Amino acid sequence: METKLRTGAAYYPEHWPETTWTEQARRMSELGLTTLRVGEFAWALMEPEEGRFDFAWLDRSIEVLAGEGLEVIIGTPTAAPPQWLTKRYPEVRLVDERGVRLPHGGRRHVCITSARYRQLSERIVRAIGEHYAACEAVIAFQTDNELSCHQGACYCPECQTAFREYLRDRYGTIERLREEWDADFWSIRPDSFDDLPPEDWFLWMSMQHPALKLEYQRFTSCQLCSYHALQWKVLHATAPGRPVFHNMMGLHGGFDHFRMARESDVVGLDIYPNPSGPDPKTGNLHYHPVRLSMVHNVTRSLRRDVPYHVVESPLASVNWTRVNALPRPGQAEMWSHIAFAHGADTYLTFRWQAVRSASEKHHCAVLMHDLRMDGPNVDTARRIAANAGAMSRDLAGTLVRSRAAFAHCYENLWQSRHHKSARMQDYWDLWLPWCEAFFALGVSYDVVDLNHPEEWLPDYDLVILPYQQNLSDAMAGALRRFVTGGATLVATCCTGWADEFARMRDVPQPAPLADLFGIVVQTHDPLEETRTNAVRLLADLARGEPSPVSHWCDLIEPRGAAVMGTFEQDFYAGSPAVTAHEAGGGKAWYVGTVPGDELATVLVRHLCAACNIETHDFPPRVQLLSRWADDRRRFDYYLNHTPHEVTFKAVQGGRNLLVGRGRVNTLTLGPWGAAVLEVEQR
Ligand code: GLA
Repeated sequence: METKLRTGAAYYPEHWPETTWTEQARRMSELGLTTLRVGEFAWALMEPEEGRFDFAWLDRSIEVLAGEGLEVIIGTPTAAPPQWLTKRYPEVRLVDERGVRLPHGGRRHVCITSARYRQLSERIVRAIGEHYAACEAVIAFQTDNELSCHQGACYCPECQTAFREYLRDRYGTIERLREEWDADFWSIRPDSFDDLPPEDWFLWMSMQHPALKLEYQRFTSCQLCSYHALQWKVLHATAPGRPVFHNMMGLHGGFDHFRMARESDVVGLDIYPNPSGPDPKTGNLHYHPVRLSMVHNVTRSLRRDVPYHVVESPLASVNWTRVNALPRPGQAEMWSHIAFAHGADTYLTFRWQAVRSASEKHHCAVLMHDLRMDGPNVDTARRIAANAGAMSRDLAGTLVRSRAAFAHCYENLWQSRHHKSARMQDYWDLWLPWCEAFFALGVSYDVVDLNHPEEWLPDYDLVILPYQQNLSDAMAGALRRFVTGGATLVATCCTGWADEFARMRDVPQPAPLADLFGIVVQTHDPLEETRTNAVRLLADLARGEPSPVSHWCDLIEPRGAAVMGTFEQDFYAGSPAVTAHEAGGGKAWYVGTVPGDELATVLVRHLCAACNIETHDFPPRVQLLSRWADDRRRFDYYLNHTPHEVTFKAVQGGRNLLVGRGRVNTLTLGPWGAAVLEVEQR
């Protein structure tokens, strides 16, 4: 696939009379779009009867698009099976957590464990791959659509059998499972794997045994990943040379994103910023730039070797939030800049033309129902395409490089749902102050997989380990190597409580790394919303007032660590809140609370300085991200996330790819404005 920046939309030719296709393609090309994603819900048309395939309509549509120089990504249609399929094979319909088998008529109402569904999926995917192998206009494939969206796990009899096998594989003997699960508790005690799951499966699930819940989530994740991988392999075999991806959903976390990314050629992201806002700092509606940045960083880091695709994003109001308010002028264009700045090479919008009926009739599109070519969404799409066109030659294929990272695993996200304090269950929200700090200081970060430390261990100088309850011995060993190898690790409260079976450890916290951090956590004080505390840092870290903290306070006993900050209030006033311990050549910091933005920023500034990572001070809500070329060039992408004009000095002067292309040192960015400076790497 040619390296370039791509813009375009999801396109459903099957929703429109064929007589309109030529005019639609002409309009797409006139707007400067390059790429359309098609097909991902059209199984009923591609296979109208079992075993009879009809791609003629799609061939004609692709021919029309190609005639205008447009490229096509085909989505496999397995998120929406045809009626004949669910009628003939009712066992493929998903059983939800209430025990109800879902009816036909929505989407994702299928069991992807079902051998029958896998067989039928494989057949349609193979047919697509074989049919389009020689079609030059088809540049890539998407598998299915947003796996785990709408419907999470399935609990049908076939899943139960498969889960039992999964447990057998994982634990070997029932005695081992009983031990790891403390299964004598309330006489849960299964006699054999055949008792798992028991007859009253749904009731049992609702008893929320954390190990069972975690294992079921792991099992579901494995099923989702292997279902995607099945399609990935079939497409590789039938239509070699086309990248295959899945459109993941950022922070959704229904499966192990790291694993799926490894079994893909590139990463796809669907991102709908509306529900993320408002920005707590500025009050700007629908727009929380730090959270948006976090979604892109999480996604990009899934594959650090290749730019990712934004496959869906809105231009205006969606149809599925409470109010579906309109983004402010300039915001939707800024969403595309955010993607390119974070390392995406593709930015597609959902969708080309607004559907007139069905459940998404109120969803925005490039062309709204009135089909006007002078509407605001059309203008935005045109500008996004023009920006990408202006930057493509230089920016495409370049990568983001970070020396700081967050380390985590999806098991921890799932386990956090069983946290002792309900307030600590908002996993990603707890990351935000740390992300806010990196954002404010113009420091780029990645997000890496604790389950595969060999992939990232040597690459970073500073790693944050946020609220990682779930810590296997292997993970702990890797973190130890990271620190003794000379790097800096920052762990927070709740580190290392449980092993990979969700079983609490019987050694002092932060088990099993207490010696690395040089502390022991004696107990903790979870804080209600109405209670806060504050942390006073050592004078050489911060001058001035103590900084507020929330959610949780650890009562820490130093065992060799230096105390870097203390709590201000309550019966533990004066006791350690932040500690640092030299270990080998590196340093292990522990922050025994949830910092606010201020504390996180002071700490990150200090840590970056200690790790020799450059920080910057820009006007509020101005962000810097850099993409690096293989040659000596770097592209510094500046984003103004405010509705006001801002003027500031660039870190390094350079040629602006977006406007004028002349060399600039001082930047003036309009509301929601951006600049991309080409500079020499240093
Ligand atoms: C998701 C789906 C799309 C569409 C949009 C609407 O992202 O992938 O098919 O339903 O939401 O916002």
